[in-house]
Amino acid sequence: MTTGNLLTQPLRLPCGATLPNRIAKAAMTEGIADAQLRASERHVRLYRAWAEGGAGLLVTGNVMIDRRVLERPGNVAIDPAPPDAEAMARLRNWAKAGTSNGNHLWMQISHAGRQSPWYVTGQPLAPSAVQLKLMANYRRPRALREEEILDFIQRYARVARTAREAGFTGVQVHGAHGYLLSAFLSPVTNQRSDAWGGSLENRARFLLEAVKATRAAVGADFPVALKLNSADFQKGGFSSEECLQVVQWLNSSGVDLLEISGGTYEQPRLLGYTGDADTAVEAAQASVSSTSTQRREAYFLEYAEAIRKVAKMPLMVTGGFRSRAGMEQALQQGSVDVIGLARPLCTDADVPKRLLAGDESPLPNYEHSLKLGNGVFAPTTNVFLFKLVNLLGQQGWYYQQIARLGDGLKPALQRGVFNAFVRYLWDEYTTAWRMVRKRI
Ligand SMILES: Cc1cc2nc3c(=O)[nH]c(=O)nc-3n(C[C@H](O)[C@H](O)[C@H](O)COP(=O)(O)O)c2cc1C
Repeated sequence: MTTGNLLTQPLRLPCGATLPNRIAKAAMTEGIADAQLRASERHVRLYRAWAEGGAGLLVTGNVMIDRRVLERPGNVAIDPAPPDAEAMARLRNWAKAGTSNGNHLWMQISHAGRQSPWYVTGQPLAPSAVQLKLMANYRRPRALREEEILDFIQRYARVARTAREAGFTGVQVHGAHGYLLSAFLSPVTNQRSDAWGGSLENRARFLLEAVKATRAAVGADFPVALKLNSADFQKGGFSSEECLQVVQWLNSSGVDLLEISGGTYEQPRLLGYTGDADTAVEAAQASVSSTSTQRREAYFLEYAEAIRKVAKMPLMVTGGFRSRAGMEQALQQGSVDVIGLARPLCTDADVPKRLLAGDESPLPNYEHSLKLGNGVFAPTTNVFLFKLVNLLGQQGWYYQQIARLGDGLKPALQRGVFNAFVRYLWDEYTTAWRMVRKRI
């Protein structure tokens, strides 16, 4: 039995643009820029494959506004904005391939803040000097000066204008996951006592100003989206009640699509890790150890339902959707307008096409099999090293599938998590090293 076909319905956005259907490929960092942080041929191949896959909307991975503070090696950075002619030509090629199926392609604009590993930044920048203590991978950040905040607001705007000029059909400001804008929202990471910290109004000022400047830079007829945490899931962090208030402020900011996500590197709920542990590795392990635990398919849906009550703009929810029935039901219930998909599209770019055709078979889901020993070594999997391998190996596994799509190769589905872990370390460090050498 097939469920309804709301997935195939177009969606007209407040700015007047129309998404051809309700499936969006959510942002996934690609890590495939060249050593000068420019888009490459691999972006062209990757996004052509995803465009042909049928999603009405493709959102790029993090595109950085600050080349000094990357989210990971291989990010595209548009700094300065606009970039030189060669970098611009590469962006145009990327945009052309990524819109080749009549779909939208929106650039996700981002600053990593304190979540920038030591091998890609000399000095992370953050609201306050609160260090991310995770696997000894992150240096203590420096608190931003007010003039730097004001400069960054303009950078979001200039990168958005560059995206429009290059042929991207929209932009998404990244205000989630503990990166810079999201870190400003949280009292844990924002301990400022000036106009950018303290009350929620002050903590949200940077985000709201960045969105406002972005809208002003691209004009009224161009899609501007925002990815926002429903909550940080951290003690004393940005709460779901605060999220509701921020959404109300955003109602008058000209946001065309609000994507609901959640969590940070310390609480990676964005990936559905539901452990109570307060470190990412433990949280990841808690999730992969409890495969029998039934959780709601799309884990931010309940938050979206609450946000829906106060939001005036269309909503997208990303995280955990793995069945066509679950997607149709979410659309049917009216809690969401666009379904975001990430991991399933790493191993099969054509998933949206099949969903739109009514195929009810479950989506690719490797999350629970990507585990060291896969249960065989269960008694020993609480050892820190095992947890580390599982977390980075899982993430690396998806990175590697994306890179393979960019190389025009088939996914390596049989690759084990330990193999993926070793390759992950090799890829990240060698890419970082190439970048450093090129910039010297
Ligand atoms: C490999 C990978 C890279 C990701 N990179 C980004 C990113 O650059 N920006 C972002 O907002 N979210 C990023 N995410 C989070 C996804 O957009 C999405 O919120 C999350 O994977 C949950 O959706 P899913 O269950 O459909 O995978 C990434 C996720 C994965 C697996």
